[in-house]
Amino acid sequence: MAFPIQRLRRLRQHEGFRRMVRETRLSPDDLIYPLFVVEGQNRREEIASMPGQFRLSVDLLVKEASEIEALGIPGIILFGIPDRKDAKGTAGYDPNGIVQRAVKAVKDHVPGLMVVTDVCIDEYTDHGHCGVVKDGRILNDETLDCLRAMALTHAQAGADMVAPSDMMDGRVAAIRGELDQAGFTELPIMAYAAKFASCFYAPFRDAAGSSPQFGDRQSYQMDSANRREALREIALDVEEGADIIMVKPALPYLDIIAAARSQILLPVAAYQVSGEYSMIKAAAKAGWLDESRAMMESLLSIKRAGADLILTYFAKDAARLLH
Ligand code: PBG
Repeated sequence: MAFPIQRLRRLRQHEGFRRMVRETRLSPDDLIYPLFVVEGQNRREEIASMPGQFRLSVDLLVKEASEIEALGIPGIILFGIPDRKDAKGTAGYDPNGIVQRAVKAVKDHVPGLMVVTDVCIDEYTDHGHCGVVKDGRILNDETLDCLRAMALTHAQAGADMVAPSDMMDGRVAAIRGELDQAGFTELPIMAYAAKFASCFYAPFRDAAGSSPQFGDRQSYQMDSANRREALREIALDVEEGADIIMVKPALPYLDIIAAARSQILLPVAAYQVSGEYSMIKAAAKAGWLDESRAMMESLLSIKRAGADLILTYFAKDAARLLH
């Protein structure tokens, strides 16, 4: 029985009806806010390619954290920008490193806010790659040692969850083993399971100074063309002990989010990455898009595709609109 009996516009006529039949709803509960932390005191530097986002020193990060908590956002994810970088990213697993101190400060002052840490050495290596380099190659198994050490120092600093983003094979199992051995059996892992070699990370690399100094990340991050391979990556991370799996970037990979949601019982996170944020910001600044509407529509689409959690630089703006 079709038209004229069926008229789908009937339930679109009033905001009341639209509210009643709305299938997907965003909530501040869905959001995780990524933050960049730097050395020093009272430092707040706007990131040129990410208007409205800042590199913060630990003292200001703590203030920011209480604002975020007050907005009803359940958690943040921290990225450290160290003063010194070297070939193996040792500043990343220094127990007194920038992220380790930041985690401790936030947990001391804003204990109710969940602090997730990004586990990857690229922000700490002088070559900018996510792994140990030898003869121009990114070594997998040697990198696992760095990741184990890094995750452990994050846990010891008080992190609520660790999130490996390097795309080395076997890192989830390696980190799980390390954490369990040290008594952190209850600490969850959110695996950046399907992370694509994307151009949309460019503003982040500018923010973190982590652009590769030679080559690119295609030998470890995924080929954008591959959906089945993404599902293998996700399945492996589940097997290795991930508690949450992530797809990244989000908007150009909604099909991967939807496939993950339909095949996996774990919570699915999606990362609306820096380039996705900056595109909307730039278009809004030029007067070509309405910023709030573009933000909410993109976040809603990511949720509709199946993401339970969304990591987004829009978290605060979105949470304000959702209250
Ligand atoms: C790696 C990491 C990256 C992002 C999150 N974790 C950068 C990369 O792979 O180059 C990108 C996030 C974004 O673009 O917002 N530590």
